Amino acid sequence: MTGTVRERLLDAISERFRREFAGPPPRRFYAPGRINLVGAHLDYNGGDVLPMAVDRGLYVAARLRGDGRIRLRSLTVERQIDVEAAAVGSRTLAEWGWGGYPLGVWHGFRTRTGRADGFELVVGGDLPMASGLSSSAAIEVATAIALDALYGTGLDRQQLALLAHRAENGFVGLRCGIMDQFASALAKPGHVLWLHCAGPRYEHVPFDPASCEVLVMDTKKPRHLSRTGFNERVAQCATAHETLRAHVRDLPHLADYALADLDAARGAMDDVLFRRARHVITEMQRIATGVAALRAGDYRELGRQLDASHRSTATDYQVSCEELDVITDAARDCDGVLGARLTGAGFGGCAIALVRPGAAAQVARTVGEAFQRRFGVDAAFDVLNVGSGPGEV
Ligand code: GLA
Repeated sequence: MTGTVRERLLDAISERFRREFAGPPPRRFYAPGRINLVGAHLDYNGGDVLPMAVDRGLYVAARLRGDGRIRLRSLTVERQIDVEAAAVGSRTLAEWGWGGYPLGVWHGFRTRTGRADGFELVVGGDLPMASGLSSSAAIEVATAIALDALYGTGLDRQQLALLAHRAENGFVGLRCGIMDQFASALAKPGHVLWLHCAGPRYEHVPFDPASCEVLVMDTKKPRHLSRTGFNERVAQCATAHETLRAHVRDLPHLADYALADLDAARGAMDDVLFRRARHVITEMQRIATGVAALRAGDYRELGRQLDASHRSTATDYQVSCEELDVITDAARDCDGVLGARLTGAGFGGCAIALVRPGAAAQVARTVGEAFQRRFGVDAAFDVLNVGSGPGEV
C-alpha cells in the first residue's frame, strides 16, 4: 500500500472512531491478508502450506470500555454491533455478521485470561472482503493484537494466531485449518511461510519480487458455497482418513499417507472420498516440489506446481467453478505467466497468477477481455507484493 492510501485509510478510521465514540484517541493496529502459493486444503489435513502475506490488509482502531459493552463498526459494512459483553456466549449469532470475528477473539481472551472488559473498534482496509484473500483472518489477527496490547497480556505471535484460529473455528464455526491466521500473524517481509500444520512448525522462505510477481484476479463471483462446501470437504477428509486407518495403517493425518496406501484402500472408499484423499496426497508432493523450486529460485517450476494444484482442486477436490477455471486458463495462455490457480477455499472469489515482472498489465488486459466476453463481468486485477507482518501502527 502506498503511504498516502494508508494514511487516508487511517484518517478515515480515526475520524469514524471519533464520530462514533468520542473521548481520547484509540490505538491502531494492522494485520495483512494472504494468498496461498501451493498447499490447497492441506492445513486441516495435517499437511504443509505455503502462504504469502500480501501488502493489503485491515486496520483497526480500538479502545477498552469501562461499561461492559462491546461496540463494533466497519467503514464498508453497514451492520453495527452493540452488545453487552456478558451476553456473549461461546458461539456467534447470525445477527452479528462480520462482528462474529472480533467477538470470537474477545471471547478467546476472556477464556484464556479472564479479562472481561468491553471494547470499541472501527475496522477498515484495502483487502477485498470474502474473496479468498483472508479478510476474516486479518480482522481476527488485528483484533487479537489490539486486545493483547490493550489488556497488556503479552502473548507471542503464535499464541495470537492460535487464539484467532479458535475464534473462527470454534466461535464462528468454519472448520478451517490454521493457515490463514498463521500467514497473517507470522508474516515476515520478503518471505513466504512454509507452515507444517501438524506441528505446528514453520520456516520463512525468501520470495524474490525481481523474479516473479503475484497477479490477483478477482472473478467477482460470490463464494456462496464456501461455508457448507468447505465443512463438507473437512468431513469427507476425516472419513477418508478413518478408512485408511482402518484398512491400511494408522497414521496421524490424511496428509501423511502415500498413494500406495490409497490404492490399497480403494475398495473401501467411494469415488468421492478417493478423489478427496488423492488431492491431499498429491498436493503434498506438489508442495515439496514447489518449496524446493522456490529455494532454488526456479519460479517456472513453482508455476508448474500452481497449475497442477489448480487441476487437482478442480477435478479431485471439486472446489473450483467455471469462472475460476476460465480465468486461470486465460492467464496460462498469456506470455510471461508462470502458473495460475484459485486461492483460498475456492467456490468463487479470487485466483492468482505468477507473472514475470513487467508482464502483469498486459496479462490483466488480455484475461479481462476474455473474461468479459465469456461472462459479461469485469474481473478486477491487482499486483500484490509480499507484505509485512502485523503490528501497532
Ligand atoms: C480457507 C481456510 C484455510 C484453508 C483454505 C484452503 O482459506 O480458512 O484454513 O483450509 O481455505 O487451503
